Amino acid sequence: MSVLITNIAELITNRQERAAAPDSPATGPDGFAAITDAALVIEQGRVAWTGPASRAPAADEIVDAGGRAVLPGFVDSHAHLVFAGERGAEFAARMAGQPYRAGGIRGTVAATRAATDGQLRANLRRLAAEMLGQGITTFECKSGYGLTAGDEERSVAIAAEVTPEVTYLGAHVVPPEFDGDPAGYVDLVCGAMLGACAPHARWVDVFCEQGAFGRDEAAAVLAAGMAAGLQPRVHANQLTAGPGVQLAVEVGAASADHCSNLTDADVEALAASPTVATLLPGVEFSTRHPYPDARRLLGAGATVAVATDCNPGSCFTSSMPLCVALAVREMHMTTQEAVWAATAGGARALRRTDVGHLGVGAQADLVMIDGPSHAYLAYRPGVPLVAGVWRAGERLV
Ligand code: NIG
Ligand code: FE
Repeated sequence: MSVLITNIAELITNRQERAAAPDSPATGPDGFAAITDAALVIEQGRVAWTGPASRAPAADEIVDAGGRAVLPGFVDSHAHLVFAGERGAEFAARMAGQPYRAGGIRGTVAATRAATDGQLRANLRRLAAEMLGQGITTFECKSGYGLTAGDEERSVAIAAEVTPEVTYLGAHVVPPEFDGDPAGYVDLVCGAMLGACAPHARWVDVFCEQGAFGRDEAAAVLAAGMAAGLQPRVHANQLTAGPGVQLAVEVGAASADHCSNLTDADVEALAASPTVATLLPGVEFSTRHPYPDARRLLGAGATVAVATDCNPGSCFTSSMPLCVALAVREMHMTTQEAVWAATAGGARALRRTDVGHLGVGAQADLVMIDGPSHAYLAYRPGVPLVAGVWRAGERLV
């Protein structure tokens, strides 16, 4: 059964060879590629052909895109979706002048511990459906609001029901019962908690930040996770220009996330390594922090991804179109750079070669938007533009 989607005003394919070579030199907009007046054929869940509509082959079924743009499904490489409760009052206080602090996480930890598995699962599935409705076809999901061995284990297990990109974030903050004994908590994160979580997870992450975990603690958590077979990624340099980025590069992390406060040495280290700089502009939008300097990273040659960081504290949006608009409007990325970062860049940050591009053989994950070009994602901010979503060739929206 083949499906031909035709009458596509602009088909963003990205360059397959770029997405397919995670260790190749850092890239960005030069990996962006588009075909105008295009068509695409799906066979067995994969992209079988792309090219000018005038040369499209026959297919069993034809979908008329009606002159809309079609892009690779968005790849959201950073999200915290297993939690209970909400922190709307904290957001309102922030908008009235309070700063964002890592400590707010503890409020969500209390609510998460008190929730049933069913409540956590229902909340996660609601957010996953929200994401899909906004064109996200691949997403990463972190634990980090349980912070006991049992609560972290159920968090990663529930996440694994909906995505293969599960991240163990036992090192999110030190929970209250370990006040005065952070070393004891790091031992737990590196020991029994890791043992319970590793079978359900692909990644290990740590919030390396003042008020969370310092360099040595973070290094210990990443080393233990890697010894247990997990691959590293790091919450780095969100609130301060700390050691997170350097640590991420040293351990060969797939991604250093946030990167909102970087030294020249941090930028150079990212540019010289395959570690992706994952920018989360929804966080700066929702905390009134200054945005990361995307132009400095791109100018140096670093690989830049854009992700939502959907979480109940620093950024409660599941909208990649909003993040693309912010990347363009607030971080001065071009529309091409931002779309690449939200698709192929996210795939790089998850070390995935099958998504984030529409080369022949790629998973047929597509988003169709109600506009003739990818630029509409930033040109029409806040408008529900997603007109169709396919995952592995199946139309879901
Ligand atoms: O990525 N920085 C650490 N973790 C989340 C925020 C978590 C929270 O505030 O609940 C983030 O911004
Ligand atoms: Fe985060």
